[in-house]
Amino acid sequence: MTGAARKAARKLARDFGEVENLQISKKGPADFVSTADKTAEKTLQYELSKARPNFGFLLEERGEVAGADTSNRWIIDPLDGTTNFLHGIAHFAVSIALERDGEIFAGVIYEPIHDQMFTAEKGQGAHLNGGRIRVSGRNQMHESLFATGIPFKGVRNHPLFLRQLEAVMAISAGVRRFGSAALDLAYIAAGRYDGFWETGLSPWDMAAGIVLVREAGGFVSDLDGGQDMMSSGAILATNAPLREPLERILRESASGKRP
Ligand code: IPD
Ligand code: CA
Ligand code: CA
Repeated sequence: MTGAARKAARKLARDFGEVENLQISKKGPADFVSTADKTAEKTLQYELSKARPNFGFLLEERGEVAGADTSNRWIIDPLDGTTNFLHGIAHFAVSIALERDGEIFAGVIYEPIHDQMFTAEKGQGAHLNGGRIRVSGRNQMHESLFATGIPFKGVRNHPLFLRQLEAVMAISAGVRRFGSAALDLAYIAAGRYDGFWETGLSPWDMAAGIVLVREAGGFVSDLDGGQDMMSSGAILATNAPLREPLERILRESASGKRP
């Protein structure tokens, strides 16, 4: 998985260099970026098929590709943080998860520009460039830093998000929107952020991040405390102490009890 991620990322990093040159053109780099995205996905599919010929795939661009082995499936986002990439902002990643018998078994999130390789395997802990990582120990909301995804064009329920944001920003050390859900989750695993929530995500945005956060000692659920993240597209990830307070704040702001 790490080998495939590095191969795809090498080309993405070269393409990212080109993007800067294209900003000044009227059309911008949109088509170029879409090709870079698809090429990265092809590389990942090729490399992983070579290593495990029978595994299936769920690919952001190509969709579902059935494998002879129905227990194992790769869930892949070849480029998470596309809007950043497109605008020349160096915060994007390749995300690969291995789902085994319906459960996320292993995950790799690779951020090429700063060479950060986040890895996790069920029961084996979470690592960054080979060194063990853990979620933060912060237990006070006012000391804690949160990440989220601000809904954008085409994503529904902006008023609900604004209520949630207002509630969290009022009592925390800050809220960030860096534009890559995969890296948001990897940063929770590394103890950089203390909590993260977002709705409207797809399975490939979060699959690898879910196992990373869990293996780093954190909690992942949907916004109701259930485990329907992959089908609902809603996710909440925190360290242990902030799980209940963040869930409560989001629930109360959704129901109009807060702020
Ligand atoms: C997006 C990023 C972003 C999130 C969006 C996703 P993409 O993925 O993860 O942080 O807010 O909902 O679609 O499009 O860059 O692969
Ligand atoms: Ca994505
Ligand atoms: Ca993507």
